[in-house]
Amino acid sequence: MLGIESSCDETGIAIYETGKGITADAVFSQAEIHGKYGGVVPELASRDHIRKTVPMIREVMGRIDATPTDLDGIAYTQGPGLAGALLVGAGIGRSLAWALGVPAIGIHHMEAHLLAPLLEIQAPPFPFLALLVSGGHTLLVRVETFGAYEILGQSVDDAAGEAFDKVAKLLDLGYPGGPKVAQMARNGDSKRFAFPRPMLNHPGYDFSFSGLKTAVMLQARQLGSLTERDREDIARGFEEAVVETLVVKCQRALKATGCGALIVSGGVAANARLRSTLSSLDAQVIYPPTHLCVDNGAMVAFAGHMRLQAGFRSPLAFRVRSRWPLSQLKEELPSTEVKLLP
Ligand code: KG4
Ligand code: ZN
Repeated sequence: MLGIESSCDETGIAIYETGKGITADAVFSQAEIHGKYGGVVPELASRDHIRKTVPMIREVMGRIDATPTDLDGIAYTQGPGLAGALLVGAGIGRSLAWALGVPAIGIHHMEAHLLAPLLEIQAPPFPFLALLVSGGHTLLVRVETFGAYEILGQSVDDAAGEAFDKVAKLLDLGYPGGPKVAQMARNGDSKRFAFPRPMLNHPGYDFSFSGLKTAVMLQARQLGSLTERDREDIARGFEEAVVETLVVKCQRALKATGCGALIVSGGVAANARLRSTLSSLDAQVIYPPTHLCVDNGAMVAFAGHMRLQAGFRSPLAFRVRSRWPLSQLKEELPSTEVKLLP
């Protein structure tokens, strides 16, 4: 199974072999292209996916001496994401599948994130919870079974990763901001700034990060020109606020649902403070390795493998879905008999 990821600013290509797992995997990050604009420029993202996708498919297949006829299917990210960027991966993936006479499978990007840790770790018993935290989404999900996801909570404004990126911009740390803010926060004083913990006093499991970002902005403005110390302390205060908000909501959801396991995935799941704080929860907490937290083709190939085995196929007339609620996947299961298995 060939997997193609092109929903945002990473081109990810990987091969999943039944019985062996991921045997070849490559990711190209466009961070340098978008860095000077302080965020992803959709048109530049699409153009670079056009440049990279086919050469990367050739390179990845060459690494394991695979030929196109070895492929049993092609999975591509169908959404959610940037429409133009998605169209590149979907167009190439769908055409290749047609030319080779193999099935094409359109994958939901957030389902791929959710399944990523299962490339290495056995799935916990159903139902379990998943916290999916990326640049575009913050979702707390109850996994009834693979393919059937109930959204317990989500961000009502900025996603957690987006808040990291915006605070990084404010602190002049460049793009992508998450790892840079995390790095800055390491030496920061956690007691100096008490930023708000958004939505913690609200019932339910929704998140909000836009007010926190504004509080950080106002604090920075009040300080005027920022010293290195100021930037470290702000980064630390901000990171603590995001992490506490995420962890408390997970804790409440675990208790209320009685679930014993939590999968944490998406770019922000690479955050070391989030990981260490989550380890205090009374639950099995499962992450992918950090290179599989951020966007990659391996998770798409794996999700494609699971869906191919369950009989999924995408029609010739493909469409991408820049907005696509994860909960809709359940309605798209052909019958309750269909089981997605790793
Ligand atoms: O999953 P991902 O690669 O792309 C999307 O699907 O959006 O997530 C990217 C997001 C970015 O906002 C990035 O700043 C954030 O994940 N991120 C982090 C860390 N590494 C990546 N945020 C906090 N700490 C990190 N170590
Ligand atoms: Zn992602």
